[in-house]
Amino acid sequence: MNTFGKLFRVQLFGESHGPAIGVVIDGIPAGLPLTPEEFRDDLLRRSGGRKGGTPRVEEDGLIFLSGVVQGHTTGSPLAVIVNNKNTISSDYESFKNSPRPGHADFVSRLKSGGYSDARGGGHHSGRVTLALVIAGVIAKKLLSPAVVSSRIIEIGGENPWDAKLDQAIAEGDSLGGIIECRIDGIRAGIGEPFFDSLESVLSHIVFAIPGIRGIEFGDGFKAAGMWGSEHNDPILTTSGETAKNGSGGVNGGISNGNRIVLRVAVKPTSSISKAQQSINLKSGVIEELTVLGRHDACFALRVPVVLEAAASIALVDMLYQASAPHIWSHGVVVKDPLN
Ligand SMILES: Cc1cc2nc3c(=O)[nH]c(=O)nc-3n(C[C@H](O)[C@H](O)[C@H](O)COP(=O)(O)O)c2cc1C
Repeated sequence: MNTFGKLFRVQLFGESHGPAIGVVIDGIPAGLPLTPEEFRDDLLRRSGGRKGGTPRVEEDGLIFLSGVVQGHTTGSPLAVIVNNKNTISSDYESFKNSPRPGHADFVSRLKSGGYSDARGGGHHSGRVTLALVIAGVIAKKLLSPAVVSSRIIEIGGENPWDAKLDQAIAEGDSLGGIIECRIDGIRAGIGEPFFDSLESVLSHIVFAIPGIRGIEFGDGFKAAGMWGSEHNDPILTTSGETAKNGSGGVNGGISNGNRIVLRVAVKPTSSISKAQQSINLKSGVIEELTVLGRHDACFALRVPVVLEAAASIALVDMLYQASAPHIWSHGVVVKDPLN
């Protein structure tokens, strides 16, 4: 099914060219101050219209359907929608029979028995991450004073990446990138030791972001080639502060109180205007396909805020699970059980 979380539960809905995108969130405590202005910065960071991003720009005006009264949450499920206004569905007509290589057109048609919404990629569109970002704004607020931030490490294997991005745009090709997310101020002791290890739950939600190809924590894949003496994090204090952070702030699936660090690999956009081959599902003939429509040449540029949202949602849920009621008061950690 399509709900994430056990105690902080998030459900996304909507299609790229449907009437609206939305989110339902259950588990927000009553009395949390919440105004539409608080969403503006993160929604802007996710929006298109910049170099390397889709030319599709939407107003992204939030409509609160439930869960907020007079600027405060009520404790009942919060539902928010954002209308889709700037859609050109005719661009996607041909993908019904000629699925885009690398995109979800083929598999969603197969899985739904032909009833999938192909317009703009339907529910597989990056547009749905708008709903994730909305939930992320609330999750960040609940996590405060912990801070979740992301940055682009490289695009198309380069940093700086401007020249390579220009080349991709000029050639009708696309690029991916690596984004790093850092979470500061999460206490030690969050995460379950096996299936719901902190890395497992974070990875679960991160792989829900369309187009993610990999994830690593701390030294990540480099750890495999390191000496133990290099990778180990010397413990400096009784509260668990370490001299370095090779484990990315998690040991045994449980936060160790240091900064949580994860990096994700984002694939190059599959919708490229360079000619590719795809099967025509009606005729059975392999044909040349040039993808039309408005696409990100590099959607990795828009992923940092989406990654922050995903990580924040997972962390709130894990904090809820790990915390006895006395620890939580509108998201503020009032007592560290280790001290
Ligand atoms: C913010 C964002 C924007 C995206 N924009 C596009 C796009 O313009 N064109 C495209 O083909 N894919 C885009 N994607 C990726 C597709 O949604 C994704 O590749 C597709 O759903 C298939 O899923 P997969 O790549 O995980 O297999 C975007 C993803 C995100 C997170």
